[in-house]
Amino acid sequence: MATTRYWCGTNALCNMGEFVDRVILITGASSGIGAETALHFAAEGAGLALVGRDEGRLEKTAQDCLAKGLAKDKVLTIKADMCVEEGVKRIMESTITHFGRLDVLVNNAGISLFDTLTSEALLENYDHTTKVNVRSIIQLTNLATPHLIESKGSVVNVSSICGKRVVRNYLSYNITKAVIDQFTRCTAVDLASKGVRVNAVNPGTIMTPIFSNHGLSEEELREQLGKEHPLGRVGEPSDVASVIKFLASNAATFVTGETLSIDGGRQCSCAEGYPFTFGE
Ligand SMILES: NC(=O)c1ccc[n+]([C@@H]2O[C@H](COP(=O)([O-])OP(=O)(O)OC[C@H]3O[C@@H](n4cnc5c(N)ncnc54)[C@H](OP(=O)(O)O)[C@@H]3O)[C@@H](O)[C@H]2O)c1
Repeated sequence: MATTRYWCGTNALCNMGEFVDRVILITGASSGIGAETALHFAAEGAGLALVGRDEGRLEKTAQDCLAKGLAKDKVLTIKADMCVEEGVKRIMESTITHFGRLDVLVNNAGISLFDTLTSEALLENYDHTTKVNVRSIIQLTNLATPHLIESKGSVVNVSSICGKRVVRNYLSYNITKAVIDQFTRCTAVDLASKGVRVNAVNPGTIMTPIFSNHGLSEEELREQLGKEHPLGRVGEPSDVASVIKFLASNAATFVTGETLSIDGGRQCSCAEGYPFTFGE
């Protein structure tokens, strides 16, 4: 069947309507990058399984997706804690029960805590951050794999600049995101022969509620952290959502195992002389 081609948000060529019959599972869809990614796929008419813990904010994302014109049965919300194995199992079961298929898994839910080698709570932080940012992703991707093989689908992991570079005072977080980058490459190689692609995005600073406990106002964050990005600004959730959609699309059918920076050039620049560091 002929498809119409057009230039999508990333300036990459997309097939109009390619997501209409596809099902996208997004964790951390109740906030920030995940919520924006849901809206980007909703605008394409995709079926959406949206995961989060905060029911109110998850429902808000669902309503925003419906406002893009999606039919009610194309949006499924699943309240689950990624730290609980039974909850992660339920995410996959509910998605398949409702939609009968899975085409794209966006492993986005994540947390960031401050710590260094001398932090009192280092091991506690490390265990908790690993549970949310790594273990749950390995579990959910494992459960999703048979369905992705069936649909010849793809995975997009939301990593971070911290997977490639060291951001000070984020020891546990840096480690978890480096693991996600390697997990991306390992699973890309494992699943390539089955027709499943696996990629990651590595955002720089993106203005989301993840910074709500960092003690600075939004204006201060934009001002201070914008300077660390050669393009002169921090990122917005839509900067990341458009690239996630690109990696999941037919415009990226020969891209797998990639860890794609979305950071205004920050990972290219020298860390010395940062004007500002969190936690100091
Ligand atoms: N913002 C940035 O500058 C930046 C930069 C690089 C990478 N990232 C990565 O981008 C991803 C999204 O972050 P964001 O900035 O959009 O943060 P955010 O606005 O704080 O959103 C985080 C999301 O993760 C979910 N989540 C956290 N812990 C969870 C758990 N135990 N179980 C289920 N869901 C959980 C939250 O759901 P509930 O609130 O409903 O619990 C929320 O939807 C993360 O992986 C983060 O590491 C962010």
